[in-house]
Amino acid sequence: MQSTVNISKARSLAEDTLSPARLTHVFGVTETIGELCRIYGLYEVSSDLTCAALLHDITKEKPLEAQLHLCKEYGIILRTEDLSCPKMLHSYTAAVFAAREFKLDAEFCDAIRYHTTGRAGMSLYEKLLFLADYIEKNRTWPSCKAVRRYFYRNLKGAEGPEEKLLALDRAVLFGLNATLNELIESDQFIHRDTVDARNDLLREKNRLKKENRF
Ligand SMILES: [Fe+2]
Repeated sequence: MQSTVNISKARSLAEDTLSPARLTHVFGVTETIGELCRIYGLYEVSSDLTCAALLHDITKEKPLEAQLHLCKEYGIILRTEDLSCPKMLHSYTAAVFAAREFKLDAEFCDAIRYHTTGRAGMSLYEKLLFLADYIEKNRTWPSCKAVRRYFYRNLKGAEGPEEKLLALDRAVLFGLNATLNELIESDQFIHRDTVDARNDLLREKNRLKKENRF
């Protein structure tokens, strides 16, 4: 079934809301998610994922006070550790915003919700937005460049859909490890969802390794 999400409205809203630098990043994520949809043959949901990409950082530039106010307004219950990682609150508020204002289906809103931290048992859409956010062409941090290279190298060697999905898992795990290293090095709080996401993918990697498939 064709999606009814309003991409041009999401694009205009991003243009009206975000700073030029953030907008460049958001358009980069949007382009990358389009490319990933082609790679993974996700033509039916490409509009929904494009909308998720356009909205994933829509509340990111709100100051903390406004962010907390929005969480309250949206009925988002924050855990102590959410408050220890204020940078990721925008993922929660942007996800609810996308559901309310754009009627984006829950599975795409979850991709927005977990695009910063990841979580255990990430869905395909969650992994794709996480990766697109990490590797879009305007990202210049060494870790982003490394994940981008790693993903496309693995993808190049992938034969068939199963190996392509494996390349995605590998890249997400690589990205989560890089994020965790950076958080430790800069003495920042680590959200447990990031640890859970990383351990979950590592567990799967070790299982496949035993079968000589990773
Ligand atoms: Fe982003």
